[in-house]
Amino acid sequence: MEPFVLATEHVRLSVPTYADVDAIAAACQDPAVAEWTVVPVPYERRHAESFVGYHVAEGWAKGSVYTWAVRAPGDADGPLIGMVGLTNEGTPAEERAGELGFWMTPDARGRGLCTEASRLVLDWALDPEGLGLSVVSWVAYVGNWASRRVAWRLGFQLEGTLRRHGLQRGVRRDAWVGTLLPEDPREPNEPWPADAPGRQVVPGR
Ligand SMILES: CC(C)(COP(=O)(O)OP(=O)(O)OC[C@H]1O[C@@H](n2cnc3c(N)ncnc32)[C@H](O)[C@@H]1OP(=O)(O)O)[C@@H](O)C(=O)NCCC(=O)NCCS
Repeated sequence: MEPFVLATEHVRLSVPTYADVDAIAAACQDPAVAEWTVVPVPYERRHAESFVGYHVAEGWAKGSVYTWAVRAPGDADGPLIGMVGLTNEGTPAEERAGELGFWMTPDARGRGLCTEASRLVLDWALDPEGLGLSVVSWVAYVGNWASRRVAWRLGFQLEGTLRRHGLQRGVRRDAWVGTLLPEDPREPNEPWPADAPGRQVVPGR
């Protein structure tokens, strides 16, 4: 599939290119990205080059993973402020499934932009006229409350904790897993856990 743009008045999602390599390499120096994702550590410029040149390009060409750079809104591609990716698993004859992943640059966090960008991707992914997936999963290492909050806002149903489910740089970590179906409302489906960090917000902000 050819990469395409998704946009709202707050974000523009377009394919990351070689022009983004330095910004990606800089963003992946952030300790939170290292802590909660599978990026190589230490993260070098060559990692960003192969991410753009291989992972992103092959993913779009084969339809195995769709990756967007999150940018400020506008007619042209501005500086990258985050990344959203969606895997696409299954053959054309099967009901297909995907997994959502994301990170944002530290300066761009806390403004709802990850949630908004992810919602754009999910709306396309779960639309029968779009990608038509049967289910999208979200997986985060236990303790990643910022990620869980995004998934919660988007309407993912928390399925539970899978022990040692996530392989990170050779080490298996316990992971929270959530799912979102096409028919699910795209809003919180349960109260935010009372013992969790973060503001107490009732469903349907
Ligand atoms: C997860 C991440 C992408 C969220 O990005 P973001 O731009 O801050 O996301 P949003 O602003 O859309 O939403 C974040 C929500 O989490 C909340 N939040 C942030 N940190 C939190 C924390 N430690 N505990 C609880 N809630 C937290 C915010 O208040 C916000 O809640 P709101 O919707 O009520 O306003 C970002 O923190 C990040 O890049 N982390 C490092 C990489 C990572 O963890 N990726 C996900 C791997 S599964």
